[in-house]
Amino acid sequence: MREYIRVRPNGPLKGEVTISGAKNSGLKLLAATLLTKEEVTISNLPPLKDVNVMLDVLQYLGSKVERIDDTTVKIKNDNITDYITPIELMNKMRASFVVTGPLLSRFGKSITYMPGGCSIGSRPVDLHLKGFESLGAKVHIGIDAIDVDGSGGLKGAPIYLDFPSVGATENIMMAAVLAEGTTTIDNAAQEPEITDLANFLNKLGAKIRGAGTKTIEVVGVKELTGGSHTVMPDRIEAATYMVAAAMTKGDVLVKDVVAAHLIPIIAKLRENGAEVEINEDEDQIRVIGADKPKAMNIKTLPYPGLPTDVQSQFMTLLTISEGDSVVKETVFENRFMHVAELQKMRALIVTDGNEARIKGVDKLVGTDVRATDLRAGASCILAGLVAEGETRVHDTYHIYRGYYDFEKKFKDLGADLEIIKVEE
Ligand code: UD1
Repeated sequence: MREYIRVRPNGPLKGEVTISGAKNSGLKLLAATLLTKEEVTISNLPPLKDVNVMLDVLQYLGSKVERIDDTTVKIKNDNITDYITPIELMNKMRASFVVTGPLLSRFGKSITYMPGGCSIGSRPVDLHLKGFESLGAKVHIGIDAIDVDGSGGLKGAPIYLDFPSVGATENIMMAAVLAEGTTTIDNAAQEPEITDLANFLNKLGAKIRGAGTKTIEVVGVKELTGGSHTVMPDRIEAATYMVAAAMTKGDVLVKDVVAAHLIPIIAKLRENGAEVEINEDEDQIRVIGADKPKAMNIKTLPYPGLPTDVQSQFMTLLTISEGDSVVKETVFENRFMHVAELQKMRALIVTDGNEARIKGVDKLVGTDVRATDLRAGASCILAGLVAEGETRVHDTYHIYRGYYDFEKKFKDLGADLEIIKVEE
């Protein structure tokens, strides 16, 4: 059985959409449970494919996982029997690599393989490994296995990251939690997911200060307790529906969001001509798309800049915005795979290295396109919402990695979107 997503234009999106828990935080919180032998409960976990892969990784290592409901799990790691994450699971998801920090911190050992995941440019893990070495671990890289040995004991150290990598900040922060002494991570990533992780670990007894700023300090503790945590809302999912509202000239109330996490998205939507109303008390944002969306320039940056994970959605909006726009991707190389798909839909885009120039067109035209990665898949759906005729988005599995219940959420807003199963 093969499937594709059929999208047909159906006018402006209207209504309400409730945002799920953040995939990129939930994954790290799950990995972090390896730091304690006590029971931990995590709620508001989005029931996504990537989350299931992380739960598979944990169970492989010996975790006892009890699913309380769709979005809540209880985990007890009092009998971890393995420190090797198998290659099949690493290939399914790059973020599996974040088990390295907690395994190293608690057991002094981790073997993983070169991470897989979305093909969005070369995604090395050198900064993670340099951090582990600074804490005293020995790193051995085989043909594809990465063996990190901290059996001699980890010692807190000053660490400077050449780039504020999200994954490296999280992995090193977790490795430092049970190390002896104090670790400082300078030029740390400041993404809200890192703050969420630090808040969770502090509830369990960790001593982390400064998460969400450029300098994080971790004072090592002997052990962590149990506890519970609710995953923060997914700012990228929220941004995707906000851009969808703008694309379709719709009027959408996005619920369960933290507006403070969405500042660049709100600013750029306003620059595009949309009306954005923020209701911080209710955790809601209303987006009313402009009648004539305007061209603008965007540049992706580490937080608090515009996230690379919304670059493709914004580029899609710009394909139908009046005038010439420039999109600059500075976080990943090769994150323009959606361009070829948008071009198939008659978007006018020319790329030069990490820069794309876009000339707004009056209309896009539906055709067969591929979700080449998770966010590229989202951009194909967004384009399909306004393209003339029918858009068929293939390779849908990428989209399931990051958008919980997207078919229902889009349909509830009035989109004509169906998942079509085809017998082969
Ligand atoms: C995380 C997010 C991803 C998001 C990205 C940037 C998860 C599961 N994924 O990915 O959705 O797009 O942050 O906001 O949370 N780099 C190195 N060496 C390293 C690590 C990273 O050179 O050791 C480079 C990468 O190649 C990339 C840049 O740093 O060019 C950013 O990567 P990073 O912030 O680490 O992203 P991820 O944690 O992989």
